[in-house]
Amino acid sequence: MEQRDAAQDGYYSGVTYPMEFHRQYTPVWLNLAAVINGHRPCPLDRPFRWCDIGCGQGFTALGVAALHPNAEVFGFDFYPSHIENARRFAADAGLANTSFADVSFETLANAPATTWPKMDFITLHGVWSWVSATQRKHILTFIARHLAPGGMVYNGYNALAGWAALLPVQKLLRHVRATHPGNTSAIIAAGNALLHGLIRNGAAFFTENPMAALRLEFLGRQDPDYFAHELLHEHWTPFSPDEVAADFATAQCGYIGSATLLENFDVFSVPPPMVAMLAATQDPAQKEILRDFGAARMFRRDIFRRGTEKPLPGDALAALDAITLTDLGLPDDGSYNIKTWGSEGLALRADIYGPIRQGLRAGPLALGELRELFPDVAMLREIAAVLIATSAAFPTPFPQPSALQLERARGFNQAVARHNLAGGHAHLRAAPRLGTILPANIAEQAAAAT
Ligand SMILES: C[S@@+](CC[C@H](N)C(=O)[O-])C[C@H]1O[C@@H](n2cnc3c(N)ncnc32)[C@H](O)[C@@H]1O
Repeated sequence: MEQRDAAQDGYYSGVTYPMEFHRQYTPVWLNLAAVINGHRPCPLDRPFRWCDIGCGQGFTALGVAALHPNAEVFGFDFYPSHIENARRFAADAGLANTSFADVSFETLANAPATTWPKMDFITLHGVWSWVSATQRKHILTFIARHLAPGGMVYNGYNALAGWAALLPVQKLLRHVRATHPGNTSAIIAAGNALLHGLIRNGAAFFTENPMAALRLEFLGRQDPDYFAHELLHEHWTPFSPDEVAADFATAQCGYIGSATLLENFDVFSVPPPMVAMLAATQDPAQKEILRDFGAARMFRRDIFRRGTEKPLPGDALAALDAITLTDLGLPDDGSYNIKTWGSEGLALRADIYGPIRQGLRAGPLALGELRELFPDVAMLREIAAVLIATSAAFPTPFPQPSALQLERARGFNQAVARHNLAGGHAHLRAAPRLGTILPANIAEQAAAAT
């Protein structure tokens, strides 16, 4: 049954959030995005702290804890079942370096400063657009007090340009939610019936807003729980990036790039004629707004940092050179195309990507080695982003994992196997050399779990 309670502050908790792992806000990925944008990485070979605000069932946090035994990992969420599940998994996997707390954002903001330590990474995914302005303020207070100098903040939220056409649809669903006596499925069914009735009966809103109908069709193909999570929250708001950047500035954090790697390169994320227009745009915030228009972007993965000054060029280059890529075994059929938001898909240069893919198949390749072939650093950054974003390759931050890293990864994989034996559906396994969790088929999972 839906819970409607003042402490929820309009957050809809009629359904439990699924167990999901998101690689885009792990330390390895955030470091990668930072380096690709010319910023310094946060050292991961010494103790560090990472936290997830609104962690759901904490699966990303659990993965991070398994991959980085030297990190202290924190997960915060006010939904007790989420925290209970995360703690149960942590105990089963032997992840003693986790702390999950069932606290609200308000409690986080108001706790004495010594309650929680300074964090090197603070992450929030699927939170900012779904909670009230008051909750967003609490989150900023926590960040202002608990982000270490040089620390990174990841914020994954809905972008206005791609969602604008659905604003009235969300308001209709919100009204259905407020007036319908039924549970989540009944609310979604009633909302869908009204929306499809409107389309069938020629409502001008849909005929005059083709994007609205298109987006609705996309949502209709998703799991009803996703639909509910997306649109039933009282305060659901998609944002323009400058609004978010202005809020983060109040916590002394500045924008340094996107964790959606290809979105750092206009050539891959906006229509070709727009590339020159963006190159001529001086104001960084305006550039981000225009990029969202260009891609009709629906979701942004912004990375902010406390201290946005870039390192010396030599240090930035050394950080790029140090990234070693490992081939992920994706079949190479010789056609190098890339599909990106808002563009038709782009043909990559086979004379560049063909030999690189071939080289990667022979063994891990450091970007420092590739630079001998591609001395243009901007080009090298682009190549690295493409290979990683298309899952052709992955960084290899721990070529020789420690005994503890191997043990923790094994513990994580075995706990996933037990979870699945009990009826769960987590088709994943920890890859300690790569510092990430990867999708796995049943045979790979069985091998990793034994
Ligand atoms: C969409 S889920 C995201 C979970 C996780 N970050 C992920 O992406 O897998 C958002 C989470 O925020 C939590 N949440 C929402 N409002 C909150 C509040 N005021 N205090 C604490 N947690 C909150 C919800 O319980 C939910 O688990």
